[in-house]
Amino acid sequence: MSAEVIAVAGGQWGDEGKGKVVDQLAQGATVVVRAQGGDNAGHTVVNGKGMFALNLIPAGIFNPKTINILGQGTVVNAAGLIREMAALHERGISTSNLRISPKAHLVFEYHQLEDGHEENSKGAQAIGTTKRGIGPAYADKANRVGIRAEDLADPEECLGKIARVLKNKRGYHPDLANSPQFDPGYYENLLGEAQHVLTPLVMETSEFLYRHITGSNGRVLIEGAQGTLLSVDDGTYPMVTSSNTTINGLLAGAGIGARWLTQAIGVFKAYQTRVGGGPMPTERFDEGADRLRKSAHEFGVVSGRPRRLGWFDGVAAGQSQYVNGFTDIVITRLDNLSCMGDLMVCNSYILDGKEIHHIPSNLRDFERCQAAYGNEDCYPGWNEDLAGITDLNDLPEKARKYVLGIVATIPDARLMAIGNGQRREDLVFA
Ligand code: IMO
Ligand code: MG
Repeated sequence: MSAEVIAVAGGQWGDEGKGKVVDQLAQGATVVVRAQGGDNAGHTVVNGKGMFALNLIPAGIFNPKTINILGQGTVVNAAGLIREMAALHERGISTSNLRISPKAHLVFEYHQLEDGHEENSKGAQAIGTTKRGIGPAYADKANRVGIRAEDLADPEECLGKIARVLKNKRGYHPDLANSPQFDPGYYENLLGEAQHVLTPLVMETSEFLYRHITGSNGRVLIEGAQGTLLSVDDGTYPMVTSSNTTINGLLAGAGIGARWLTQAIGVFKAYQTRVGGGPMPTERFDEGADRLRKSAHEFGVVSGRPRRLGWFDGVAAGQSQYVNGFTDIVITRLDNLSCMGDLMVCNSYILDGKEIHHIPSNLRDFERCQAAYGNEDCYPGWNEDLAGITDLNDLPEKARKYVLGIVATIPDARLMAIGNGQRREDLVFA
């Protein structure tokens, strides 16, 4: 007897629709774990209870039988989490099944201040972060001066730790030294509230997960945030986030051994988007891209920024498969492409006159890559509405061919489902 362990990661630059896929799979899940990232994620879920934009809380929260864990690899904004819980309570969603790993690191407003400061100092090289303090919080973790969820149990001792951290930070950032967020007293009320609201949720998760996996027939779902190309290890460094967003990163962030993984699902949007800076070889600037951005509402959940939009990048998708080893893929938002004209899929880049099929590790080289499109990479568009289709065989022939074109760029993975609408049930399984 052992539970299924399914990890769901983004295959691109985030915003692939992971929330929807996880919400669907969470119906049968006994446990959902967020493994990395923080409230830089914005996971939109539309189900019978309404539309929700989740930043931290795992998408399994809508199933009252599912335990939802913020894993050791996450960075949790304590004030933000308290607000997110309250917003769910107001809409009648209980968070009594939420748990937090004692090892999860905390994000405080001083991290957000540092994030903004770091970005401003980069000028034109700015990453375009969400300014949620994610990078500085992970930096503190690696620097071994992070504050963890377990520290909330003793507000006085926690405040002492924060005071020591801030003393050093005032030295590193003289121009921020006088900001109220760099004064430990700023956090006193928050720590009191967090002890009250969050400490009861802090639970040792490694033994719980091990016993659950090895001793039950349940289903553990590991919910990824961001996407592979934003991974600090595998992505387009330095234009990335600060956690490892791949299947491998998810296992480490959940604290689950690799041998228990039964399925590695990659979620890909049927076209390409990116928010923030960094190269994007298939980016489009034409009127068609504007039309798609508006009709598909491609604006950031967290920041409201318009998302950059492009043709499906098969080189990037292949790169993603090199480092993830997805067993299954889900292609989302296919319905958004109806009535959008002919479509391209990029199958190679040209760098210095040579054809390549990977993303160069060097950012300058990546910047110089040009997306190549052959005649066979152009797919005739379709005008049929895909809403309500429940069988892949009922897809219009042109849409089916386009899907096959995308699938071919992700070797060794099986097409599991396509998305044809926002709602939980708008997933057509193969
Ligand atoms: P979900 O989970 C898309 C991007 C930011 C920026 C870079 C670094 O909704 O897919 P950070 O604030 O993380 O230090 O910013 O990463 N980014 C995302 N892009 N979806 C996300 O999350 C993202 N989280 C961070 O735009 O380019
Ligand atoms: Mg998002």
